[in-house]
Amino acid sequence: MAGTILVGYATRYGSTREVAEAVAADLRERGETVEVRPLGEVYALDGYGPVVLGAPMYMGRLHGDMLEFLTWHRESLQEHPVAVFALGPLTDEPGEVEGCHAQLEKELAKHAWLHPVSVELFGGKYDPGRLTFAHRLVAMLPGTPLHNRPASDARDWDAARAWATDLAERLQPASVR
Ligand SMILES: Cc1cc2nc3c(=O)[nH]c(=O)nc-3n(C[C@H](O)[C@H](O)[C@H](O)COP(=O)(O)O)c2cc1C
Repeated sequence: MAGTILVGYATRYGSTREVAEAVAADLRERGETVEVRPLGEVYALDGYGPVVLGAPMYMGRLHGDMLEFLTWHRESLQEHPVAVFALGPLTDEPGEVEGCHAQLEKELAKHAWLHPVSVELFGGKYDPGRLTFAHRLVAMLPGTPLHNRPASDARDWDAARAWATDLAERLQPASVR
């Protein structure tokens, strides 16, 4: 693959960072050079080849660092192959997963200039004991999906690694396939 792969992530509680690291580990096993960085610390894409962007969903939106990154780097992102993953559903219950897919699609549709080679949604992690004050308030509201929800971790490490393996193939220049 041409150039260092940037795996950039947004996160509030760390679960997306861990998935970003799993994706990066798989790509490295395939011989790629990979840098894993928080999106808020990436100021330019110079020197990178493909860009993998990961972010959690919050209240139907992609994490703000991801939205900011897409806005700031709109022009340069169009010169790189881009892949996107998001974390969201807290169970593998089909209704919840479909709802999160719809949220992600709606968010990405706001950036129609972005043409990712691959988009994937992974299960997320939830720990009510670690919520910020604002998120605790959200979780306290009766009728919201987080109300009285127990801690859970729906991340599927095999799925994350399988996605990375597939990415390594998709991001390969056509000439060396
Ligand atoms: C307050 C709150 C709101 C959330 N809203 C959504 C949502 O709208 N859609 C979704 O799919 N997941 C939602 N989630 C689940 C998160 O995306 C999931 O917990 C994710 O793993 C968090 O990532 P992070 O640890 O990298 O911050 C929400 C979680 C919290 C705590």
